[in-house]
Amino acid sequence: MNIGFIGLGSMGAAIVPNLLIAGHAVKVWNRTASKAEALVEKGAILTATPGEAARDADVVFTMVADDKALEGVTFGGDGILANLKKGGIHVSMSTVGVALVERLGIQHAAAHQGFVAAPVFGRPAAAAAGQLFIAAAGAPEALDAVAPLFGLISQKVFAFGDNPVSAALVKLAGNFMIVSVTEQLGEAMALLGKGGVDKAAFLDFMTSTLFNSLIYKNYGALIASQTFEPVGFAAVLGAKDVGLVKAAADGLNVPLPLADLLSDRLARLVAEGGGNLDLTALSKLSVDDAK
Ligand SMILES: NC(=O)c1ccc[n+]([C@@H]2O[C@H](COP(=O)([O-])OP(=O)(O)OC[C@H]3O[C@@H](n4cnc5c(N)ncnc54)[C@H](OP(=O)(O)O)[C@@H]3O)[C@@H](O)[C@H]2O)c1
Repeated sequence: MNIGFIGLGSMGAAIVPNLLIAGHAVKVWNRTASKAEALVEKGAILTATPGEAARDADVVFTMVADDKALEGVTFGGDGILANLKKGGIHVSMSTVGVALVERLGIQHAAAHQGFVAAPVFGRPAAAAAGQLFIAAAGAPEALDAVAPLFGLISQKVFAFGDNPVSAALVKLAGNFMIVSVTEQLGEAMALLGKGGVDKAAFLDFMTSTLFNSLIYKNYGALIASQTFEPVGFAAVLGAKDVGLVKAAADGLNVPLPLADLLSDRLARLVAEGGGNLDLTALSKLSVDDAK
């Protein structure tokens, strides 16, 4: 297949090799062109604009940071929308707001192009190993067309119907849960720490019994040991995502009091200089409060 891939950050740069190894022709674009060098050595072709990466593509992926970046690479004369052929499919894997996803679905349909929202769960190491989880939504024929490509980059795809907004909401709700658990673990560990209880033993107890899940095990270990680097999921990105959750909730008139609390906690962490630490640094606030 002819593939365009836009956004070669931690995630995009890890995903593209899996498409190249399978023999696909991949044209790549990144705002900072130098980040494409390693992929060009592996056979990717670097283009001068996002539109050029999209022009001959059957499928064009975007894996850029946020709403502003996705708007920038999609709209305008050099963007995906103006250059992707009729019948071409745009697969958006970024974590972005529901209003933008809705707009992309409408505008691609008007241009007789397909649009699939396919946000992912999994860190860059999982992306490199082709082991992401994908929440996908879009027209059934578009989902069928991209399924072989999803097979190369993920361990499992969960389909959420034909409205791309559904996949965006799934991703935001999932990240809301991740940030909530981080705050919850931080508060519980601060209590145990001040009470003189062995936090590692507590974590082993909980994750062997009632909370036997990856998120509790992985984040719990980092929080018990107050380890916030290397950064897997930066606190600033967590703050961005909670903002997107609140915007989605406002749009649907759904009160989310916990999201409001998390937004305040993340704002404080960022104000205290912790924005570029891992999200687990949220737990430092609880430890400080307990002093
Ligand atoms: N990292 C994770 O663990 C993870 C997991 C699941 C989902 N996600 C989501 O996946 C997306 C990408 O994450 P990442 O970790 O790859 O982020 P990243 O390493 O910060 O990379 C961000 C990418 O977006 C590009 N970009 C930023 N602003 C831009 C703009 N205004 N115009 C054009 N391009 C722009 C960057 O280009 P430059 O190289 O020029 O800066 C880079 O290619 C985000 O939506 C994130 O929330 C991340």
